[in-house]
Amino acid sequence: MHIHRLEKIWLALGMGALLLFLGILGVSAFAMGISPPSGHHHMIDPAKVNETAPFDKPGMKQVADKEYEAVMIAYAFGYDAETMEVPAGSTVHFTVTSSDVVHGLAIPGTNVNLMIVPGEVSQLSYKFTKPGTYLILCNEYCGGGHEYMQAKIIVT
Ligand code: CUA
Repeated sequence: MHIHRLEKIWLALGMGALLLFLGILGVSAFAMGISPPSGHHHMIDPAKVNETAPFDKPGMKQVADKEYEAVMIAYAFGYDAETMEVPAGSTVHFTVTSSDVVHGLAIPGTNVNLMIVPGEVSQLSYKFTKPGTYLILCNEYCGGGHEYMQAKIIVT
């Protein structure tokens, strides 16, 4: 079968892009320390988020030395808790769910990037080494107030 030279080039580019994409996916999955599917797809009733532990008490809790758990509820349009604080060098385990629609939870400048699906508990850990104020933003379009959704973590 005759393949046009240009087609071969496009094919090679396509394969290259695919391999690059898979590589990035693999590396970032590794870097984020993705937990096994069992931990990632813990189910919860979105209508009862506010009365279901640990979401009945959102906020930052110390769980060990330099280790914290940030329990958060994403809703249209904000996060509960909205402002949290940890000392620099702390590893924060995010435990997040939504009480209404699909939201995001991303911290620009870090690899913290979660999709928050109602009925599911999303988890991710991140070590905050540098002091500063880290903005938490929603990166899934969720309605009219989408761009106003935010929270912050103050690293002291
Ligand atoms: Cu929540 Cu966009």
